[in-house]
Amino acid sequence: MKSNKNAYKLAICGKGGSGKSTIAALLAKALVENENSVLVIDTDESNFGLHRQLGVGLPPDFMEYFGGKSAVLEKIMQAAPDWDSVSFFEEKLSFADIPAAYISKNGEAKLLAIGKIHEVGEGCACSMGMLVKEFIEKLRLNNGEVVIVDTEAGIEHFGRGIEKSVDAVLMVIDPSYESLKLSEKVADLSSSIRKPIFFILNKVDESNEQFMRETVGNRHTVIAAVPADPALSLAGLRGEEIMAGHTEIQHLLQTLAEKCGYEEHKNL
Ligand SMILES: Nc1ncnc2c1ncn2[C@@H]1O[C@H](COP(=O)(O)OP(=O)(O)OP(=O)(O)O)[C@@H](O)[C@H]1O
Ligand SMILES: [Mg+2]
Repeated sequence: MKSNKNAYKLAICGKGGSGKSTIAALLAKALVENENSVLVIDTDESNFGLHRQLGVGLPPDFMEYFGGKSAVLEKIMQAAPDWDSVSFFEEKLSFADIPAAYISKNGEAKLLAIGKIHEVGEGCACSMGMLVKEFIEKLRLNNGEVVIVDTEAGIEHFGRGIEKSVDAVLMVIDPSYESLKLSEKVADLSSSIRKPIFFILNKVDESNEQFMRETVGNRHTVIAAVPADPALSLAGLRGEEIMAGHTEIQHLLQTLAEKCGYEEHKNL
């Protein structure tokens, strides 16, 4: 079922290597197939795989548009201790306001990367966190526009408040004890900021799916289970573009449309 009636912002989180970027890319591609326009925001300052999975070139760091990391940090420090007064964006932003030079495109799938760590000793990533939080917060979506935020492994992004700016949190859980434990923490953090949280089981097979569904699903909402797929694994290994067409992902889109959907007020 094609539907471009979506307008929502999602943060994808999970343990390192659980499949966050893969799911982000699969979702983006499926949404584009369904005639949506998707902005994927790479907030992971360490990894370089997402652009390959989306089939686009690596865009320049969006931080550079603001003078680079040290300039952003300086602006933040000058405002101390009144951090809330720091602002980098107009009150309302649309996809069209994003400088084209900082976006890599594959049709209607667009990638924006906040910034990467390039050098030893260049400082922490907090400035990137502040910038991206405000950016996501101020983006206004039109009908058919979806934002997918690919986060770095773990939960530091919660500490930076990135999840406050999205409509829902998707946690990817791979078959590991650590992922299952992390799911509890992520559920607690999401509920503390009143954000809906949904779980996607990833890399499952018949030996582990039931256990994972029971462990997570007894307390929380599992909205998809993506099988361990040799083609995805090989594409990841080779750094190749991954292809849309996973049935589970199409089902997932229907669920997301129902749960996050489209609200007129987001256009205001
Ligand atoms: N369903 C799947 N079946 C098989 N391989 C998968 C699946 N999902 C992801 N992978 C593979 O697992 C590896 C890790 O995936 P990915 O890079 O998406 O994880 P990540 O959570 O974004 O990692 P990081 O924490 O490093 O950012 C990749 O090699 C990818 O191809
Ligand atoms: Mg990743």
